[in-house]
Amino acid sequence: MPVTVVVGAQWGDEGKAKIIDLLSKEHTYVVRYQGGHNAGHTVVVGDERYALQLVPSGVLYDHVVPVIANGVVVDLPTLFHEIDTLESRGISCAGLKVSSLAHLIFPWHQAHDAIAEAMRGDDKIGTTLKGIGPAYADKARRVGIRVGEVVDLDAFATSVRARALAENLLIEQAGGEPIDVDEVVDTFIEHARRLQPYVADTVTLLHRALAEGREILLEGAQATFLDLDHGTYPYVTSSNPTAGGACAGSGLGPRDVDRIVGITKAYTTRVGAGPFPSELTDGDGETLVDVGREYGTVTGRRRRAGWLDCVMLRQAVRLNSLTEVALTKLDVLDGFDTVKVCTGYRLDGAEIDHYPDRAEVLARVEPVYAELPGWGTSLAATRERGELPGEARAFLELVEAQIGVPVRVVGVGADRDDYLLWSA
Ligand code: GDP
Ligand code: IMO
Ligand code: MG
Repeated sequence: MPVTVVVGAQWGDEGKAKIIDLLSKEHTYVVRYQGGHNAGHTVVVGDERYALQLVPSGVLYDHVVPVIANGVVVDLPTLFHEIDTLESRGISCAGLKVSSLAHLIFPWHQAHDAIAEAMRGDDKIGTTLKGIGPAYADKARRVGIRVGEVVDLDAFATSVRARALAENLLIEQAGGEPIDVDEVVDTFIEHARRLQPYVADTVTLLHRALAEGREILLEGAQATFLDLDHGTYPYVTSSNPTAGGACAGSGLGPRDVDRIVGITKAYTTRVGAGPFPSELTDGDGETLVDVGREYGTVTGRRRRAGWLDCVMLRQAVRLNSLTEVALTKLDVLDGFDTVKVCTGYRLDGAEIDHYPDRAEVLARVEPVYAELPGWGTSLAATRERGELPGEARAFLELVEAQIGVPVRVVGVGADRDDYLLWSA
């Protein structure tokens, strides 16, 4: 299978990085295709915990070429901090490739992110304030600065200065603190110089790799329901994490992709605002947050938590053409006497069989639950399908029946080895 896409099937933080780490064993290229340093991707290897924001999660393997493709928005201070941190821990990033077509994030994007959130008052999106939305907005407005521009430092400096001066007018108008233009230009010339050896034509690189029969793994950040088009707009991110975005964001064609893995937790979480039908605000919700350690990898924010929602997952199967699912954090449900799974929604008293197209409608649905007995034992040491208690098997069988695609990998702990294969 030359090209595999990994995509979040919920609202992010599903444990994508852990599954990407597992799949990286059989892939040569691991490619980020959208998003930026709003992502927080965790891989746990024994006592070591790696929290990655921009560098693809396959970087921990020597045989992997990590690629930041054209669809990503790149924050250079974060990228270099990440490279330095990884290299200080013995992980080489020398082979990293960054697409000349990727757009750069600048301090004015962060300023605009903060201003936009402040202007929303009580109706904040709860963005990561990393400047992601404004950077993609500049890309769409055709005023963005791309990675490829760093090959000519003088021209790059001129572009940065012009953009900084123009953005300062808008920032001041909105009552924000203007950017120190000279400081930004000087800092970014140094960043640009450092970026030069990593800059690559990643579209040609990836197509050559395909022609040579290499395996490519496309690493989604964020998730299906944070997708700019298909998520709960406006409570979404500003890119297309869905599998179609993997093609636009990498330059591989739709017919190059043959395996599309959706990642879901055994329950649901969301960080930031927006509708969440199966959200639990009671003791069960607290338990999910406590046992699942549901705090943001990057921002430390507490995540909202609720039961698994199969209406969402069915929609994720359709939107992404999922060929299989990896279900993580099944161990987090160990202590529950009863486990619930949302199998449908009721809207205005009647059951509906589809995922509503508008966030306002989604905010009004009531979940319909199937209730299953818990397994009352720790799954942490389970490594084989046959070792799973009957109640946990029943849970996985229900999920597969609900979503119509096989659950292949099941996570039972944070470590890279804490998993079992459920379906062949
Ligand atoms: P990502 O953004 O989708 O890569 O996920 P995050 O790294 O933000 O959050 C997932 C969290 O769950 C991380 O702390 C992982 O170490 C952890 N994790 C992943 N899989 C499992 C699992 O099967 N069980 C448990 N208990 N933790 C897991
Ligand atoms: P990973 O890749 C969870 C959420 C933010 C906010 C919304 C918009 O680790 O799964 P943005 O800064 O992107 O404009 O914020 O999207 N969000 C995430 N939630 N996991 C992520 O990434 C996220 N990236 C953004 O909390 O609600
Ligand atoms: Mg995350």
